[in-house]
Amino acid sequence: KFEQVTAKAHANIALIKYWGKRDEELFLPMNSSLSITLDKFYTETSVQFCGKLKKDVFIFNNNIADEAETTKVSNYLNQIRKMAGVERYAMVQSVNHVPTAAGFASSASGYAALASAAVRAIGLDIDQKKLTQVARIGSGSACRSIYGGFVEWTKGNLEDGSDCYAKQLENEDYWDLSILAIQLSAEEKSLSSRAGMKLTVDTSPYYEIWVKEAQKDLGTLKDALHHKDFEQLGQVTESNALKMHATTLGANPPHWYWEAGTISVMNQVRKLRDSGIPAYFTMDAGPNVFVLCQKKDQEVVEQTLLTLKEVQKIYVCQPGPGVSYLAK
Ligand code: DP6
Repeated sequence: KFEQVTAKAHANIALIKYWGKRDEELFLPMNSSLSITLDKFYTETSVQFCGKLKKDVFIFNNNIADEAETTKVSNYLNQIRKMAGVERYAMVQSVNHVPTAAGFASSASGYAALASAAVRAIGLDIDQKKLTQVARIGSGSACRSIYGGFVEWTKGNLEDGSDCYAKQLENEDYWDLSILAIQLSAEEKSLSSRAGMKLTVDTSPYYEIWVKEAQKDLGTLKDALHHKDFEQLGQVTESNALKMHATTLGANPPHWYWEAGTISVMNQVRKLRDSGIPAYFTMDAGPNVFVLCQKKDQEVVEQTLLTLKEVQKIYVCQPGPGVSYLAK
């Protein structure tokens, strides 16, 4: 009992965005969302609950984390300790294989790995569905990273969140898609997704419309997935991202996550389409762009985007796996 457990979880990119909470404590979303788990970006986290520790210790990328970061982890572990009825403190070691500084920082892979390792290290016996709910209370999008491939996070309607969870729609081998993560800016993003979505829910007149549109878009995307209709998948992905970003323009104060390079990539993707190559973009709460294409077009899409002066680097991803546990 109380052995060290190591879990590996991958980041994900939402095609239908999670944007806005109906309950901030329980991380219950206003709308359902859908993502692809990414093979290239992941976090590995080890957790051991130890009777001798006087407080939680958090080591991130081989350095002792600062107090603010450690407190976040501690507060999260408190919820897991409560569920298990255990009072021991933990040693948490986490390594991020995500280009953190480049704006691809992933709370999703981070909390999915932490939840998976901590739950097992503390001896809780829970199923995958419950695990998505435990990951969710660290960061909403983390619930989708428990699974590989194409994952839906169902918003649920109940106040206690018991009907709000993530489930796999198709595994990572279902469809040969490429997701190009375009690195544009090494700067810290101005407004976190957490703060950005709250401001939008509270002040944007477009928010109500967003919730309705997201629901419709989800249906269209699931249909595209089922029929492997790439153009339909791409169109609804792009349109959903643009609608999410439009809500931020209507917020008070207004804000936007795009930089000049964001627009350059968007324009270039449209040019690619004009020349007969189906490629589509999506952006999260930051300037970087993710471009979706079919594997057969990956090379030409990558080379074309690399010619843009604002593009620093491109990480070529494929749909990736769900959480795995690593042997010591
Ligand atoms: C734009 O999961 O980072 O990336 O639940 O507050 O931790 P918290 O927010 P987070 O939000 C992600 C928002 C998004 C869209 C998405 O991934 O669905």
